[in-house]
Formats: sequence, C-alpha cells, structure tokens
Amino acid sequence: MKPLQWLLTTICLAGLVVVTDLPAAAHEDATSAEALARDAQAVQQQAERTAQILQSAAQRLRVADKAMDEFKAVAAVQALDRSADVPAPPDGKAALRLRFQYQPGALPGPGLQVYEAASGADSLWAMEALPPGSAPPRGAPLKDNTLFLAPGEARRVIVVYENPTAQDVGFLVLPHQESPGSLGPQTWLTCLCMAFVYQAPARGAWYRVIQVKAGPDMPAGARVDVLWPVLTDPAAFPTDSLAMAVAAPARAPAAPVIEKGRSLAQRFGCAACHSATGDPRPGPTWKGLYGKRETLADGSTVQVDEAYLRRAIHDPDAEVVKGFPAGMMPPDFGRKMSDKELTAIIAYIKALK
Ligand code: HEC
Repeated sequence: MKPLQWLLTTICLAGLVVVTDLPAAAHEDATSAEALARDAQAVQQQAERTAQILQSAAQRLRVADKAMDEFKAVAAVQALDRSADVPAPPDGKAALRLRFQYQPGALPGPGLQVYEAASGADSLWAMEALPPGSAPPRGAPLKDNTLFLAPGEARRVIVVYENPTAQDVGFLVLPHQESPGSLGPQTWLTCLCMAFVYQAPARGAWYRVIQVKAGPDMPAGARVDVLWPVLTDPAAFPTDSLAMAVAAPARAPAAPVIEKGRSLAQRFGCAACHSATGDPRPGPTWKGLYGKRETLADGSTVQVDEAYLRRAIHDPDAEVVKGFPAGMMPPDFGRKMSDKELTAIIAYIKALK
C-alpha cells in the first residue's frame, strides 16, 4: 500500500468512529415526536462534526502529498550515489546501512538511533512508548548504523527515539528507499513504515524492533544504503486519528501486574496483531475477550477463561479462532516468556473489558 493510502485508511477509520458513535437515544427512546426531533438534531450535529473532521483530514492529506513530492525530488538527487560512503564489509558479507531523512525538520534531540536488539526484547514488531525514566531494552549502538550480513542472513535491531522535550512528539515513517536501487530486491526489511503515527511521550522514549535481511542472492561486498523518509510535522499527518493511540502509554496507572502485562504485550510484539480497543489488526482484538464464548474455525465454541488463554498462547494452532488464519501467530511465545510474564499478560487481557 502507498503511504497516502495508509493515511487515508487511518482517516477513514477516524471518521467511522464518529459516524457510528450515535447517541443511544436514537435506538431506544424514540417513542414521542419530541424524542424523534431530538434524535434528528443529534444525528445532524454528529454528521456536521464528521464532515468537519473529514475536511481537516483532506487538508492534511494535501500537505502530506506535497511533502511526498519534495521527498521524491530529494531522493532523485541522492539516488546518484548514496552508497559510496557506506563502510566496506568484511569478506563474504554485504554492508547495509540504515538511515533516516527528516522532513521538513529534524526531530528534537539526536533523532532515531539504531542499536543491537537486547536479548529477551528481540521479538519482531515489539514496540512501546515509554514514560520518563524507563529505558528502552537496547543492546550496543550499531556502529555507523551499519549491519554486515552474509547472503541470506537476518538480524534484528531496535530503533529508538528519545524525546528530550516537555511535549509528546509524533512522527510518521514512510516506505524506505534503497541505494543502489538494483539491490532493492535483495534488501528485506520487516518493518518500520506503518499506517500509524509513532509517539514518544514528553521526556520519554519510543522503540520498535525490526528485522534486516540480506537476500540469498545479495552479492558479497555489496554496500546498500537504506533510507527512511520521516515526516515530523504534525500538520502533515492526522493527529486526531485512532492510530495515534496505538503506542501511547496508558495515562491512568492500572494495577502493577496489569501495567506489566500491557508493557510485555508490547515488548513481545503481541500488540502489533492484537488491539486493546476493538480496532482491527491481523489477530482478534483483546477487548472483551475474557469471559466470552469464542467460536473456533471448526464451528465449536469454547469458554474464554485463563486455561483457554494459556492454550491460545502456548499452542496457537491447536484452537484457531473462526475468521482468522492458522499459522500466523508465532508458536514460540510459550518458550520465550516466563510463567510470571505469561500471568501478567493474561491479567492485562482480563482487564480489557
Ligand atoms: C503476527 C501476528 C500475531 C502476533 C505477533 C501475536 N498473535 Fe495472537 N493471534 C494471532 C492470530 C491471527 C490469532 C487467531 C488465530 C488463532 O487462534 O491462532 C491469534 C490468537 C490469539 C489468542 C486467542 C484470541 C481469541 O480471540 O480467542 C490469544 C489469547 C493470543 N493470540 C495471544 C497472543 C499473545 C499473548 C501474543 C504475544 C506474546 C500474540 N498473541 C502475538 C496473531 C498474532
């Protein structure tokens, strides 16, 4: 999908919430003419609000579109030889350098930094917005932002942004461009550019674990520069979109075990596929999951209790939820996490009423 399509989807989702958020009165107490008139007025107001939101979203889209054009122009100039100063790889390996280009201005502070993934916090898609005082789970800084990979080799790294300001900072990462373009098909990245705005809270931090892989046909000795355009101006992305909430930490502190579970669900990458809010992701939402009867792919139903949640995490393909693919959820979480961690995640899922 093109980034602008992503933006559009996000905006459409935001619009949808407003449209479906009609007052309950519209369904329930429309018995008198007076109530009907009141409802009609409420619906009318809701429609006007929606129109306003869509209008401002369209305005932002135009700004983003313009920013994209500027990027393309900059990239065309840089495409000439961006890889010339990528460090030379050792024998038998290729060098892949990761870089970010900010538009229209830099992020406050040193910007996005790349580190080795720390052991225990290297799940693909792990992502978290951290409050002040808690450190991202990172290893050593990646020297020259460059990985040396043998053909076919994959490595996970963690991209971190530490926000030095007293305000929340949001940014939107657009699809990357490789130089030289001919090695693009051999440069496999999973994955940093997303549909939603990443957010680092005031004096806090944000991180995401990504994977960089050299394709099996990557020539040894190759040097590749991978560049992500990063939009830094909130006017260029939909600040009021649902998506903003994705990485934002909970403002109201919950019980410590629930808060721990929330953090672990992000650290292990669960949140990339499971929402806490009911919004759609590749896996079923966790909102309202605990205590309901779940329908499985074979048509049978099962009570969602603690035992079911444990089974669903330890052996995801044993019972597959109807409407979702088998084989998508990683099967190794049961081995990767301690029983205490699993218990905290389950406490968190239980709390998502
Ligand atoms: C790559 C996407 C992906 C990731 C990452 C992922 N899941 Fe899932 N998960 C799914 C899919 C798809 C299903 C539905 C199919 C199935 O039942 O296996 C699912 C099902 C579940 C269910 C059952 C939900 C229901 O409605 O009954 C639970 C519980 C669950 N996952 C927990 C987790 C936890 C905990 C993590 C992180 C430690 C996680 N998942 C990470 C994709 C994912």
